[in-house]
Amino acid sequence: MSATVPRDLRGRDRPDRAMRALALVGGLYARIGRSPGRDPRPVDRSLLLTVVDRAVVADGVVALRLAAPDARPLPRWQPGCHVDLHLPSGLRRAYSLTGAPDDRRSYRIAVRLVPGGTGSAQVHALAPGAPVVVRGPRNAFPFVPLPRTLFVAGGIGITPIAPMVRAAERRGVDWHLLYTGRDRAAMPFLDALGDPRRTTVRTDAEEGPPTAADLVRHAPPGGAVYACGPPPMLDAIRAAFPATGAAALHTERFSPPPVVGGRPFRLVLRRSGAVLDVPADRSALDVLRAVRPDVAYSCRQGFCGTCRVGEHLVCVDRPAGDVLAIDL
Ligand code: FES
Repeated sequence: MSATVPRDLRGRDRPDRAMRALALVGGLYARIGRSPGRDPRPVDRSLLLTVVDRAVVADGVVALRLAAPDARPLPRWQPGCHVDLHLPSGLRRAYSLTGAPDDRRSYRIAVRLVPGGTGSAQVHALAPGAPVVVRGPRNAFPFVPLPRTLFVAGGIGITPIAPMVRAAERRGVDWHLLYTGRDRAAMPFLDALGDPRRTTVRTDAEEGPPTAADLVRHAPPGGAVYACGPPPMLDAIRAAFPATGAAALHTERFSPPPVVGGRPFRLVLRRSGAVLDVPADRSALDVLRAVRPDVAYSCRQGFCGTCRVGEHLVCVDRPAGDVLAIDL
């Protein structure tokens, strides 16, 4: 026995008007759903920019200004944002934006030449006119103004801090900046730090390296501390912070934090079948790059996404159990 499917809601041969309208709307939605513009596919947020200005702003530090070749406005950013530069060799590196957020026509970065560092050497080699692929901006160090704030910058750590200082000044924040470095010649943007009465410049050459107490001397009770610089400086601030009475500490480091309290695990490369032992104090990325130097990375701190393999950020991900399996 075969069942006949009625052509309308009431079983009539001729579809009624309500049914026709329903079919029309349904068809329309189906077409929209299938239209190429609505397909769920990853959005490529890469920008092809050009170096429009290059300047040496301190010993070993170059500032680059990047703009779109057609001068189109660039995506907005806030103090603390960084961009990822895709360098001609295939390396990717994250650099803080250090210009003015309301300048929609260019991004400004400043990069210190790291002895033996391939990424910084390649950035220093970029000349005006050079094309650069940029991804971002993204913010892993957001600035949330509190009425009172201490900023601490160590050397090139001034790059994310400088836009924060300008934002604090505009918003009437009671701020203080401690800017430390080896010597004045090596410290960029010394002449563009805002109100000198609110700024302390301290160099190792003149006063010796700062102690932890020196670093947090101006921390405001109930206020915030924002710090960016080398790991020993940040470690000292972190250790001294609880005694300051300040309410919040925000830091950004140049290099990955050491793995503390980790457990050893096995890293399984599903496609090749290789199994690698990851010690307790190393990351999967460290171990992986010894056998797969082509695996890209940038921040090594879990915020840029460059090292993603499938669902894993191999610079920071560790398994709940003994094995981390990745699609390589
Ligand atoms: S290298 Fe940036 S998230 Fe892993």
